[in-house]
Amino acid sequence: MPLDPGCRIVVLTGAGISAESGIATFRGAGGLWEGYRLEEVATPEAFERDPDLVQRFYAERRRRLLDPAIRPNAAHEALARLEAAWPGEVLLVTQNIDDLHQRAGSRNLVPMHGELLKGRCLACDAVQPWPAGDAPPAPCPTCAATVGLRPHVVWFGEMPLELDRIYAALERCDLFVAVGTSGVVYPAAGFVDAVRGAGRAHTLEINLEPSAVRSAFAEVRTGRATALVPELVDQLLG
Ligand code: OAD
Repeated sequence: MPLDPGCRIVVLTGAGISAESGIATFRGAGGLWEGYRLEEVATPEAFERDPDLVQRFYAERRRRLLDPAIRPNAAHEALARLEAAWPGEVLLVTQNIDDLHQRAGSRNLVPMHGELLKGRCLACDAVQPWPAGDAPPAPCPTCAATVGLRPHVVWFGEMPLELDRIYAALERCDLFVAVGTSGVVYPAAGFVDAVRGAGRAHTLEINLEPSAVRSAFAEVRTGRATALVPELVDQLLG
């Protein structure tokens, strides 16, 4: 484990980091996401087939995220603390579409699968806030079209966001930590291989159970994110 205070750190997070905040993971009981199969609600084909169902699904997710009981937990807070206190670069890449890292104070953040509280104009693709409510705001502030918004989330079959920035950081980092991700969805599941390919960084997985790609990591810590992430940050910050 490199403890040189100038070193570059990349942290990848998945649904497991928000589980203890009350947000369901994707591959929980029965393989359903909040009662739906992913392909019913998280593909461009699903949106073409039944836009109302998909819009209702994400409206419910937004409503749930904005419930006052849903708050960042000790793991989100520890990563924000690390970014603020670490002398080197800390890039946080999240697969989560919730805003709990942002609320905890993380700023150098790539939400690679999009953001639940944003929408994209169906006419011009401009991204805009979509804080709550079932009806999208209209007309679009950029192009004035009134065709509405789609959720600004990356669906299966679509390209994750800011991959160039992510791979550049993976290739130059000294420590790569993956937290709360099952390691079955690519490209994120392959980030550890990109780091290993560059040949310099320590790789650490923190998860409730060993992930599908655990053997690619030099070190695996098994347990709850709210316990192990603050512990890691304390260790790094000395
Ligand atoms: P998953 O639901 O596939 O995996 C969550 C992981 O978190 C599992 O390995 C759990 O064991 C672990 N976990 C659960 N609770 C935990 C806790 N308290 N502390 C630590 N770990 C815990 O979620 P992701 O890997 O994030 O993509 O899923 C990846 C992508 O699949 C998502 O971003 C989404 C989904 O389809 C898109 O929507 C494009």
